[in-house]
Amino acid sequence: MLKNTLNSYGSLTKFIHWLMALIIISLIAVGFFMADMENSDQKWFLYGTHKAFGIIVLSLIPLRIIWRLMNPQPTLPKSLPNWQKKAANANILFLYLCMVAMPLSGFIMSFFGNHPISMFGIFTIPAIERVPAISGFAHETHEILALAITASISLHILGALHHHFTKHDQVLKRMLPGCK
Ligand code: HEM
Ligand code: HEM
Repeated sequence: MLKNTLNSYGSLTKFIHWLMALIIISLIAVGFFMADMENSDQKWFLYGTHKAFGIIVLSLIPLRIIWRLMNPQPTLPKSLPNWQKKAANANILFLYLCMVAMPLSGFIMSFFGNHPISMFGIFTIPAIERVPAISGFAHETHEILALAITASISLHILGALHHHFTKHDQVLKRMLPGCK
């Protein structure tokens, strides 16, 4: 089934969720790693790859938001305390905010920092003469959000594992490929 129902996620939601989860978690790991490296060809290679995959996230997120708005959302188990439902939903909202703001701040940092973005050598997104105030602000935003999204994803994963291993409910299973 392509679309969500009130009890389960559809195949397209699952596909986008896991594809973006894989890319975003890799971007975070590579991001912290590359920023700490000494200047070298390897470092600039990782910067280029990080930026190109970041732009892929930026182009996927509008489609993901439109798809979410077109679909019903499976409800959380009734037995769950209200505060936990609210916390889980607030965290999802924050993840969406980060999925827009992270790649957007990255793009702005590059565009106003005079760093063109090569999309895997296929084409290049141009940049303009450096505007330090804007690229500097975007850089800081990118760094602060990097910590915030790491915390938010950790909470999200711990929540999913808690549902599966402690509560033994369907919350993780219904997001897994092949499970209803
Ligand atoms: C969802 C998308 C993205 C995520 C999760 C992400 C994550 C990160 C993380 C965790 C860091 C390390 C931050 C630190 O050292 O404090 C980083 C650094 C960086 N990111 Fe991203 N990023 C994303 C998209 C982008 C995009 C689209 C671009 C540019 C087109 C970009 C350009 C950079 C650059 C240039 C750095 C290094 C900054 C420095 O040297 O201090 N990122 N990113
Ligand atoms: C190992 C990593 C992950 C696991 C185990 C996981 C697990 C889950 C589960 C079980 C749900 C369904 C929750 C429910 O039914 O209420 C869910 C939904 C969601 N997850 Fe994850 N997730 C992971 C990574 C990520 C990452 C990296 C992001 C984004 C940064 C993310 C964003 C979302 C969003 C936005 C939803 C709500 C459904 C939607 O709109 O697509 N997840 N996740």
